[in-house]
Amino acid sequence: MAGETDPSSFSSFQKCITKHLNLKWHVDFNSHVIKGSVALTIESLEQKLSSLVLDTKDLTIHRVITNGQEAKFSLGAKHAFKGSALDITLPFEMERGQQAVVEIFYEACPEASALQWLNPEQTAGKQHPYLFSQCQAIHCRSMIPCQDTPSVKSTYYAQVSAPKELVALMSAQRDGEELDPQDKSRKIFRFRQTVPMPSYLIAVVVGALEWRQIGPRSRVWSEKEIIDKAAYEFSETETMLKTAEDLAGPYVWGQYDLLVLPPSFPYGGMENPCLTYVTPTLLAGDRSLANVIAHEIAHSWMGNLVTNRTWEHFWLNEGHTVYLERMIGARMFKEPFRQFAAMGGWKDLHDSVKTMGETSVLTNLVPNLNEVDPDDAFSSVPYEKGFALLYHLEQLLGGSDVFMGFIKAYIQRFAFNSVTTDDWKTFLYLYFDDKVAVLNKIDWNAWFHTPGMPPVHMKFDSTLADACIALCQRWSKAKESDLGSFSATDIKEMSSHQLIEFLALLLLEDPLPVTHVQRMQAVYNFNAINNAEIRFRWLRLCLQAHWDDAVPLALRMATEQGRMKFTRPLFRDLYNFTKCRNETVSKYKEYKPNMHPITAMLVGKDLKVELSEE
Ligand code: BES
Ligand code: ZN
Repeated sequence: MAGETDPSSFSSFQKCITKHLNLKWHVDFNSHVIKGSVALTIESLEQKLSSLVLDTKDLTIHRVITNGQEAKFSLGAKHAFKGSALDITLPFEMERGQQAVVEIFYEACPEASALQWLNPEQTAGKQHPYLFSQCQAIHCRSMIPCQDTPSVKSTYYAQVSAPKELVALMSAQRDGEELDPQDKSRKIFRFRQTVPMPSYLIAVVVGALEWRQIGPRSRVWSEKEIIDKAAYEFSETETMLKTAEDLAGPYVWGQYDLLVLPPSFPYGGMENPCLTYVTPTLLAGDRSLANVIAHEIAHSWMGNLVTNRTWEHFWLNEGHTVYLERMIGARMFKEPFRQFAAMGGWKDLHDSVKTMGETSVLTNLVPNLNEVDPDDAFSSVPYEKGFALLYHLEQLLGGSDVFMGFIKAYIQRFAFNSVTTDDWKTFLYLYFDDKVAVLNKIDWNAWFHTPGMPPVHMKFDSTLADACIALCQRWSKAKESDLGSFSATDIKEMSSHQLIEFLALLLLEDPLPVTHVQRMQAVYNFNAINNAEIRFRWLRLCLQAHWDDAVPLALRMATEQGRMKFTRPLFRDLYNFTKCRNETVSKYKEYKPNMHPITAMLVGKDLKVELSEE
């Protein structure tokens, strides 16, 4: 690893690496501050190591103690998204292989980008406050001074003091709780993570949480108001885990719990070890959005065991995870289901390339992230261009059984390590050493380093998509005089997946005339559907058709939940509907204090709201 760099980190991980973190936190809901200490066990990779650099962002550092001795430290200038380097001078020299404990007393600021502090009114129960973290990609440094790079893996132990009527959870095994001896109104919750993992997987939540057992190694956690709904929605968890183990090898993390967050959680899911976080927008009532669970389960191998070495190689995490997610889907619901999902993914890729521009370097599978905020670079590209490459290889190399053999060997080879695209490619050539001629025909430079759609056009079986394509064509070609031919029976036989696909296909066409979407509402009554994936696409279709009635509904969806996949495009479409631009910008400003910090930042950029205006 020596000599390697990470454009998203200031830390000196070439000189020493963190083996373990010991966290002691006091969670203060009055001041919105986490304060306490972290003791980093570091191992020197050099002879005569006398200093180290850690990542921080908006932290106040009180003291640094190294092996019991006071150490000098200084904070560098603040970088827009990377934060400030914390330079620590050791009062001794370390030999290569020697370990030391660097204990840092600090506090996070109330605006820490990893954290959202919710008022009781923003929770389902309305009684208690709530705190959750989201560290991926580079926000851990706003709650812990650390080597915030996915190239370093550590174990951790944590003790979290929180109000005793609440529950604290972390991305680790629970290790008991007791009254806080310093303050009897509080409890100390303990956690142990014995599997080394990167900093972006450290997670904490504090809230009025309850749990239900949903499998032999799984609980679902949420506020009590939605716990039964959650237990029903995610009842397939153990089947998915077993299917994944059958495909990828043993699950090493012990527990696999789910946490359903409040609606402002910015992602669909987040693969925090032992405790996957999910958005409440998955609660469709019919388990139809459970592929997100399969996706997060797949990360237990792809990402959490074998990790991208820097965020430039993010496709190694997400592309492989989507591949495994869809293999789980194929095992549980047959191959046509996988083909249908893959086709949807190819279309999402088209959409992203169109939105970002086909010459945008951020559409490269392996982008250059020098001075680029990983949050700005985020898109479907690493997911779907990555999946497309793996599916293409599957087709070339002998089908999904053969290719899963490679994936499993790749996991065994690199488990507990961090890898680059080159490591992956070298191992691919090694594994398929009898098929080098096939591999050499691949235009690697086009796949990895060229913007736009991949060099190969993918074809998928369209059995389940045909009905969606046909209905989409009927609507997009319909004249005023044809509108009478549509009726509720058109969609009677369609699954919710097919309705999503139908609407997604229509969104790729030119906007429909407003009379068409009005007729669609009259015959299909999409306004009555609460499935978030359907509602989101339906409202976008209405906005793009300039139907005024959709504006309040879209504003409501954009603000009542904060999953960025929905909130950002809804805000963008509202902004592009020129006559409601001002209303949209003022709604954003009004809601901003209630928004997740990452969502607020990115929607602000989308709506071109200047920082100075805020
Ligand atoms: N790890 C990601 C979420 C993420 C990525 C958070 C980058 C922060 C930075 C998670 O596994 C994910 O991909 N979630 C998707 C699920 C979908 C692809 C099934 C999501 O949130 O929609
Ligand atoms: Zn993912």
